Amino acid sequence: LNISDDELRGLFPITKELVYFDHASTGPMPSSTRTAVETCLDTYSRQAQFDFNVYFSKLARARLLVAKLIGADPEEITFTQNTSEGVYIALINIPMQEGDKVIVMDEVFPTVRYVADHNIPHAQKIYLKFCRKDPVAVLRNNLDKKVKAVVIDHVQFFTGEVIDLPRLSNFLMENEVKLVIDGIQAIGALNMSVKDINIDFLAVGASKWLFGPNGVGFLYVNKKNFKSLNRLHTGWLGASWKNFEDFELNPPLFDDARMFEQGTRNVIGIISLMENCRLLQSYGMDNVEKRILGIKTRLIEGFKELSYDILTPLTGRQSGIVTARPKKDATSVYNLLQSNKIVVSLRNRALRFSPHFYNNEEEANKILEVLRL
Ligand SMILES: Cc1ncc(COP(=O)(O)O)c(C=O)c1O
Repeated sequence: LNISDDELRGLFPITKELVYFDHASTGPMPSSTRTAVETCLDTYSRQAQFDFNVYFSKLARARLLVAKLIGADPEEITFTQNTSEGVYIALINIPMQEGDKVIVMDEVFPTVRYVADHNIPHAQKIYLKFCRKDPVAVLRNNLDKKVKAVVIDHVQFFTGEVIDLPRLSNFLMENEVKLVIDGIQAIGALNMSVKDINIDFLAVGASKWLFGPNGVGFLYVNKKNFKSLNRLHTGWLGASWKNFEDFELNPPLFDDARMFEQGTRNVIGIISLMENCRLLQSYGMDNVEKRILGIKTRLIEGFKELSYDILTPLTGRQSGIVTARPKKDATSVYNLLQSNKIVVSLRNRALRFSPHFYNNEEEANKILEVLRL
């Protein structure tokens, strides 16, 4: 995308109001996406519905752009409401018998914990710590024939630690164990392709690094699993309708990830997600990641000068998150940032900073200036 920094920042009106370094919580909607949503609302208010062909071509385009973002094929993508729904679809569709086991990363955000604890009662849940450990070593001691799946947050929500998926996924594939990933803190910030890693399911909500809005997301299902899925959480729009005029003949469910779109979809959400993916891809995910890491590096230098306790591991692959604990009481520092129109997260007496590609070093410097006060 041939776009100047000013033009890029112009797409994010939030930059006029705030220094917004809180994408690990919620991402702001770009103005280009807002325009697309307004066009969609216009259709709804003037003619109630999209023309059948327009509707399905938009859906196909959205699926293609989401697939391209992660290096998947379109039929490996199903639209969801959020990360939870994606993890849910994954876990109920992995064939398991009474007494089979699911290993869950203990440091997950509550999303995975709630889904795993309450929706697969036949499976035994085993929680293991993965942070700052070699994931293969953790698993080697706990794997047996009853383990059917491992569920991991790719990026840990508090410290931003990136779990080494390539190593983990190869080990699991050799042992025929399914790998389910919560990717919400990675996708949209990090350049990654599911073709390079043996992930079975990747659940992503759009609300953070994909610029929202709330209530839309997607699940990637590796096509090698299509034949063995339990085919649960399916519905009439998980089938290949040719039109909406003849309901005598019910078409069969798709044989791929699209089978999971149960009924009437969140079209406004999907159109937003499509526009956000288009923007990220036209800038290039490699460039997006580079920009984020550049700003993060500047913050880290500043935190070191301030003798902050940096809670983010600084070796290994980096995410868009850096978390640090100030010398002073974190709440008062957080309030000071707020009063200077700087938005970050306050978590466990530490500050979590999560810049995106439209942020810049000037903003990072402004944050550091306030922190020096
Ligand atoms: C790692 C992680 N997973 C999931 C979520 C949210 O889950 P959902 O999209 O289901 O609301 C968050 C943050 O809110 C998160 O940090």
